[in-house]
Amino acid sequence: NKVFIPEVFFTNDCLTGEDVVKSTRVLGDLDGVFQDKEAYGKMNKEQAVYHVSSYLPVLENTPGGLFMGITTLYPGKVGQEYFMTKGHFHSNSDRAEFYWGVEGEGFLILMDERRNVWAERMFPGSLHYIPGKVAHRVANTGYQKLVFSACWPSDAGHDYATIADAGFARRLVDVNGVPTLV
Ligand code: 6PG
Ligand code: NI
Repeated sequence: NKVFIPEVFFTNDCLTGEDVVKSTRVLGDLDGVFQDKEAYGKMNKEQAVYHVSSYLPVLENTPGGLFMGITTLYPGKVGQEYFMTKGHFHSNSDRAEFYWGVEGEGFLILMDERRNVWAERMFPGSLHYIPGKVAHRVANTGYQKLVFSACWPSDAGHDYATIADAGFARRLVDVNGVPTLV
């Protein structure tokens, strides 16, 4: 009947504590992600695009466990295309995930295995169920940082290669100030 203080804490935009893994993606890590190569070429590759802090209470690939993460995605554009996450399918492709919006605004861009693409608006309080076999990526369409949180199975894994090879079938771009899937 002892009581313990939790080992991990969250604020709006990050997790801290033991078993929390932090990573940053700078523009240079996103080579090939954006369509406008000329605009990309002129930008500072050291510029941070997003930070992820993830709480991994069990080993990667453990069946039945859960992971949680908070992603902070900065505002910005490469040409007319909004700053966005790399995006991925899960390696265990049928594993689902929850995303929820915490701060700022943007879109969750989803693509199924038949390459159908659709988007859901993200804002503080929005909740998104990402079914298995659906690739997911987030774009910041606002002028402030976009923060969202995620919860996914510990045996989901990340398949970045499929997106690196073939991309998403549609991109979210600024058309006269309006975020538009093209
Ligand atoms: C996951 C989540 C999420 C995601 C980050 C960064 O499965 O781990 O979808 O934590 O990894 O938002 O996005 P990328 O992994 O696509 O770079
Ligand atoms: Ni995921």
